[in-house]
Amino acid sequence: MKKILSATVVICLIFASCKNSKDGNAEMDRFIDDLMSKMTLEEKIGQLNLPTIGFDITGPVLSKDVEQKIEEGLTGGVFNTFTPQAMLKLQEIAITKTRLKIPLLFGYDVIHGHKTIFPIPLGLSASWDTALIRSTARAAALEASADGLNWVFSPMVDIARDPRWGRVSEGAGEDAFLGSAVARAMVEGYQDGCLRKNTSVMACVKHFALYGAAEAGRDYNTVDMSEVKMYNEYLPPYKAAIDAGVGSLMASFNTVNGIPATCNTRLLTDLLRRQWNFKGVVVSDYTAIAELENHGLGNRQEVSALSINAGTDMDMVSEYYLTQLPALVREGKVKESVIDIACRRILEAKYKLGLFDDPYRGVSQERADKEIMSADKLALSKEAAIKSMVLLKNNGVLPLSKDKKILFTGPLADDHRNLIGNWSGAGDSKKSVSLWEALLKERTYMYAKGCNLTDDKTLIDKLNPHDGQIVPDDKTPQELLQEAVKMARSADVVVAVLGEPFGMGGEAASRSNIGLLENQKTLLAELKKTGKPIVLVLMNSRPLTLEWEDKNMDAILETWYSGTMAGEAIKDVLFGNAEPEGRLTITFPRNTGQIPIYYSYLNTGRPDDENQKYTSKYLDCPNTPLYPFGYGLSYTQFEISPVTLSDTTLAENGSLEATVTLTNKGTRRGTETVQLYIRDLTGSISRPVKELKGFEKVTLEPNESRQITFTVTPEILKFYNASLQYTVEQGDFNIYIGNSSATENKTAFTYKP
Ligand code: BGC
Repeated sequence: MKKILSATVVICLIFASCKNSKDGNAEMDRFIDDLMSKMTLEEKIGQLNLPTIGFDITGPVLSKDVEQKIEEGLTGGVFNTFTPQAMLKLQEIAITKTRLKIPLLFGYDVIHGHKTIFPIPLGLSASWDTALIRSTARAAALEASADGLNWVFSPMVDIARDPRWGRVSEGAGEDAFLGSAVARAMVEGYQDGCLRKNTSVMACVKHFALYGAAEAGRDYNTVDMSEVKMYNEYLPPYKAAIDAGVGSLMASFNTVNGIPATCNTRLLTDLLRRQWNFKGVVVSDYTAIAELENHGLGNRQEVSALSINAGTDMDMVSEYYLTQLPALVREGKVKESVIDIACRRILEAKYKLGLFDDPYRGVSQERADKEIMSADKLALSKEAAIKSMVLLKNNGVLPLSKDKKILFTGPLADDHRNLIGNWSGAGDSKKSVSLWEALLKERTYMYAKGCNLTDDKTLIDKLNPHDGQIVPDDKTPQELLQEAVKMARSADVVVAVLGEPFGMGGEAASRSNIGLLENQKTLLAELKKTGKPIVLVLMNSRPLTLEWEDKNMDAILETWYSGTMAGEAIKDVLFGNAEPEGRLTITFPRNTGQIPIYYSYLNTGRPDDENQKYTSKYLDCPNTPLYPFGYGLSYTQFEISPVTLSDTTLAENGSLEATVTLTNKGTRRGTETVQLYIRDLTGSISRPVKELKGFEKVTLEPNESRQITFTVTPEILKFYNASLQYTVEQGDFNIYIGNSSATENKTAFTYKP
């Protein structure tokens, strides 16, 4: 009985301590009032300072400077260091040597896993499996918290429709509805409903706002966007993360309609605080406050005042707040109350994380050893890799039969570094499993490297100083090519594993041409001449232009960079031990000239018509993409019946059911992602030709059928009108249910309030 009682008490305590100030946590308010009443202006400003600190694999390298600042109470947290030892050492300085003993935040870019690496976020989103995505974030939180971190700079929820932008790899693709679902899942996974738990980390939704719409796909570039587009198509995922309780938010590098986000009051105060009621911490991006000088917003003093007044609470790396704010307050250019608000938010985050009670959060080497890369996390990594792979083409050559003579070729067939992709700083690529290693566990196949990742010296010189690790082979490119072609002639099937070096994705990695690299294309062209069936396995961080490959390859499997267990997962999919079940979350264009291209475009007054000259189209290519949003093949064939509706009229406060029957017509078990789209046929503003409003993943045995029903309510028909009111308008709607955004399987209903 006693045991049961104490368990109940513990649960109640945890529940109570997870309340935040929004729920009226008077205790927290009292604690912080008391603490702040003892703080000097300098100490308050110190909390707003977030320096980076170097890390070395043999142990923490502490910059003397940062250590001293911690001791002087001039640092709210640090980032770019992990390991229990680093955290324990630095936290001890804050707790034992500073006047007020305020614990530190420990941040890091945990983007798709901490040490067990999962597929890059774009790949993970292609699973359309929010439970899986939540589990990967949870696993990352377990590892990161065991490694001394309490803050992760994730999820990145920027809607991205320009594959030239290297950072498309970091988000969930082009769609606001799916992006919102992924944002929620990730916040839930990281924070686990209670920041106070030692196994939770505070999430940081980024980059607010609209970073993904950088002009010309060039990183850090300008964004200019109508408010209607912003509210309907780009802002929902940030809002979803906030509604899910995300503890912090990062302002983006870009300007939004002329004003850099870092000092954009309309974004950071009017929208974020007033409209959305966000209570958490706003941190700048890396040196973004200093960069306001380059944006032409003023000198050091001026940009510091602009940023704090606009609502950026914490200064990542610039140290402008630390050096400028004291004088600005004394000169009356920044009110001390503004500093107080920012400082309070940071202290609240620390309070919610439980740092004032337990600054070390149970971190120890033993815990890290138990948690990091545990068997269950590696299994999850493999599952996530399998579920994120998208079969783009298959003429029947896949799955491969083990009885065939198979040549594996391409520089990524036996590679480790690229498998874990970009933003995998804590990951150890040596621990990732290459495809070739996975294959060798069972038996040996033919192997020839075929080509280098690239022979482009200029590109190598750009990538290698940043951990690019592109090492040209000792053999000449001609020798590599001839060897592969010769072996291909004696093979039954060729599997070419090609793609981008990982450094071509992520930050500051925009491309103006998004095809396969020239030397890799040459390999494919020469292999094609042998007449052997070719399976192209891709590893890359963005949509590529693959028109030639689509015409000439027998199968194309998009694997992204699928993480620590990539090789095992790819092997299972190639040989049919697992089904490829990913579906694209970003459109693959035919060529770079089509960009930006996305499925939810607005109709023009002159929609594409091949027989009419004066219509909206290209002379040299169709308007349609090569592979649309939502697309992906299975090893089996699915059929979706016409859509039936429970009613053709939807009333205010009413709902109707839209139903299809999904049938597995093939001979293998498989999983389909059934997608619901709507089109608002008339509105007070022009509305997209299709918008995703629901999806469901369904696994069926051969010949099995299942009815899939979606509930349509007025809520899902809402949008922001020209006055930015979130509303639903009377009128006719099309409703589509299919297996990609290209579906024409539709029916219609009327909304009559
Ligand atoms: C990136 C952020 C990242 C930050 C800290 C910046 O350059 O834009 O996404 O969280 O660095 O590493």
